[in-house]
Amino acid sequence: MREMFEELKSYRDGVADRPILSLFEDTGRAEAFSVSTLDMLFDYSKTNIDARARDMLLALAEERGVAERREEMFAGARINETEGRAVLHTALRNLDTAVLVDGCDVMQGVRETLHRMETFASGIRSGAFHAPGGAAFTDVVNIGIGGSDLGPAMAVQALTPYADGPRCHFVSNVDGAHIHDVLAGLNPAATLFIVASKTFTTIETMTNAETARDWVAAKVGNEQAGGHFAALSSNLEKTAEFGIDPARVFGFEDWVGGRYSMWGPIGLSLMLAIGPERFRAFLDGGAAMDAHFRAAEGADNMPLMLALVGLWHNQVCGHATRAVLPYDQRLARLPAYLQQLEMESNGKSVAMDGADLPYDSGPVVWGEPGTNGQHAFYQLIHQGTRVVPCEFMVAARGHEPDLAHQHRLLMANCLAQSEALMRGRSLDEARDRLAGKFEGAELERQARHRVFSGNRPSTTLVYPLLTPRMLGQIVALYEHRVFVEGVILGINSFDQWGVELGKELATALGPIVAGEAPADDKDGSTRRLVDWLRSAAG
Ligand code: F6P
Repeated sequence: MREMFEELKSYRDGVADRPILSLFEDTGRAEAFSVSTLDMLFDYSKTNIDARARDMLLALAEERGVAERREEMFAGARINETEGRAVLHTALRNLDTAVLVDGCDVMQGVRETLHRMETFASGIRSGAFHAPGGAAFTDVVNIGIGGSDLGPAMAVQALTPYADGPRCHFVSNVDGAHIHDVLAGLNPAATLFIVASKTFTTIETMTNAETARDWVAAKVGNEQAGGHFAALSSNLEKTAEFGIDPARVFGFEDWVGGRYSMWGPIGLSLMLAIGPERFRAFLDGGAAMDAHFRAAEGADNMPLMLALVGLWHNQVCGHATRAVLPYDQRLARLPAYLQQLEMESNGKSVAMDGADLPYDSGPVVWGEPGTNGQHAFYQLIHQGTRVVPCEFMVAARGHEPDLAHQHRLLMANCLAQSEALMRGRSLDEARDRLAGKFEGAELERQARHRVFSGNRPSTTLVYPLLTPRMLGQIVALYEHRVFVEGVILGINSFDQWGVELGKELATALGPIVAGEAPADDKDGSTRRLVDWLRSAAG
């Protein structure tokens, strides 16, 4: 397998200087180097991948047993080997077939919970389920962090045009400023809090939940405060300890990973915002992508090709980062969502078998919506010394028919960026543009600043309109991409031991920062920082 990567690298070395643009001498390239399915088109023709490279990448996927591992995942095998768990977020959206874990069908439980969520959401949306004081819930605050925040927060914003329920807000940071600012605009008597935490032990979430409870209780009294809370968790003991009415607790199993959990109870805020029917459309979109992922062969498989392009750029070409650039303002939180999905899943230096990973782990993922990014960091993308593979995405239509001219500008900008990255501008072209303005050495100097090397790779994903179903397809597409990359790298994409050490040290530092314990066993830097902060805090 290592040899296959080496072969790919040496093949790539041989074609590294080839202009991507030259590949379009093959007039069928755009069609041949793209995948179209479920109304979406994923174009990777503006990369340096040619037929030989693609064959090698597909052979790598085959050799690594991606298809077999995929079927194991869907069948409920315990592929999260370091935690001994199945990986079945797909069961949350695939409501028609039985899914067995240890011989038991888990689907009855999934359907029951979904049904309970729908009854609850419909009741809140209609006002039938109201606050104990009688007011309808006008505002919902989801308190959670990481996978218990990023998915629903991203999706609620993405589907704003479909939001006709209570207003949804999200509090994640333990920084008191976050909850303070969110609560500042709300009426306690009409606010519902959803405490979202798979473990129900996460310090940020539990601290914010207590702050919220005090805030409500101060207004409506302790007796009624409980009626303002619901919980989403797989730890039902802890939700009971917190005092949340079991009728308002929506549980899920340990085979739903936090960053893969928005399809089930963790998606309750989204369901409240857009309604159960549209939430079902979101699930349908995810299920449609699952079906495609399982059925489509080789280069016709969109998640597989998205993953192989990612591996080509990261592990083969050595480009350490990947920019996700949605030309869709409502997908502003998608890069943050994908940061957790990709970096928490594949940011590991040990393979499943415990050996050191013999190649780079997953890339640094970052991004911002276009066109804002163009006026911020695209300078580096176009002229910096490092190559940043860019992943553009744009819809054919916006939700604002009156502003169709703005949407056309948005699309033009998106397409212009990938063209500019590929095409670049030569020194001769730069000189020609400046002729008459400068001459001699000054012309040369000025022209050099205006050169774009070009030959910078990008992909573009296009879709008709950002509907709930389309968002489901997009999220599932990226989930499966992470899965494929993880299988090929031999990583367990479903654990996250790398977050533990910082949590443990933060717990130990709590009393030290509070001045209740000595900092003696800390290093000199940490001791000095603690001293400085304590004395500056007054
Ligand atoms: O940061 C680690 C992590 O466990 C994430 O994987 C998870 O999404 C987040 O914390 C929140 O965890 P929980 O849902 O248990 O509060």
